[in-house]
Amino acid sequence: MNTSLDTLPRLAVLATGGTIAGQAGDASRTAGYKAGVVGVDKLLEAVPALGSVARIHAEQIASIDSKDMTPALWTTLSRRIDALLAQDDIDGVVVTHGTDTLEETAYLLHLTVKSAKPVVLTAAMRPSSALSADGPLNLLNALTVAASRQAAGQGVLIAFNNLIHSAREVTKTSTYAVDAFRSPEAGALGFVQDGRVDFQRTVVRPHTLASEFTVPQDWPMVEIVASYAGVSRVPVDALVGAGVKGIVLAGTGNGSMSSTLAQAFADAIGRGVAVVRSSRVGSGHVMRNGAAPDDALGTVSAGTLNPYKARVLLQLALARGVSDAPGLQRIFETY
Ligand code: SIN
Repeated sequence: MNTSLDTLPRLAVLATGGTIAGQAGDASRTAGYKAGVVGVDKLLEAVPALGSVARIHAEQIASIDSKDMTPALWTTLSRRIDALLAQDDIDGVVVTHGTDTLEETAYLLHLTVKSAKPVVLTAAMRPSSALSADGPLNLLNALTVAASRQAAGQGVLIAFNNLIHSAREVTKTSTYAVDAFRSPEAGALGFVQDGRVDFQRTVVRPHTLASEFTVPQDWPMVEIVASYAGVSRVPVDALVGAGVKGIVLAGTGNGSMSSTLAQAFADAIGRGVAVVRSSRVGSGHVMRNGAAPDDALGTVSAGTLNPYKARVLLQLALARGVSDAPGLQRIFETY
């Protein structure tokens, strides 16, 4: 391809840390390393081919292991992306992130960024110092997707292991494999290989410019409680005592819960707490009035959102002032 450098797209790369920026003392180690220690300039220098994909503006937003991601940092990141995408000289954004909470950050950005320009997240399962590190190719592919015209208007995307996923559907499914990300119900949107970006389908539910949400400054307290054999009501009662505004159930099967938890949630709802039923299963959907009587209990079904994404959506809805079950159900059916 004979591309003059000054016609290349201009992309911002925002680094937040993660294993993609991780380093171990020994190249044979793929666990037991420190995440988030390599700066964005070094990450970019390691992939000279990036120079023929885009003109790059780089920023270090954070240097964390993504297990320590916070809503406050989400607010900073979402606002910075909006500010960059509002500039005429930025055509898209790539965010480097840890894999552990990538799906939560991606979904939050999908619902709050206000631009049709591409936003692509990427990460790595192996630290930058590892034999066969996956970060460099994931980064190259993420920039390739962000530089492509097809990525515009598709909401926030994840480029990982040659696949392109939607932020709404993607989830981490392996603790060690380099194909760690899947979109269990809907499948990937497409693929990227050797500079070729190929979308097989588009995103249907509203996002970015069509989303009613803006990123909050103050985040309501929303926590997740799982149902399992012998679960007690102690976590629900403790959360209600602590002033929680919403609880997401990581339920068994189709979002079911033990009788003990059902009573605890009924009491919590009576005290004004919003309760959303999702499933701990990892795929499938939670049907309204399916495994629990939502109409009678006052609960909301999460549909195909996993507990962690359901929590993000519930936080955004509560921050927007929607806390009644019908209003929340509309939101979960829309997004
Ligand atoms: C992290 O999420 O920051 C550490 C793990 C990873 O990136 O794979």
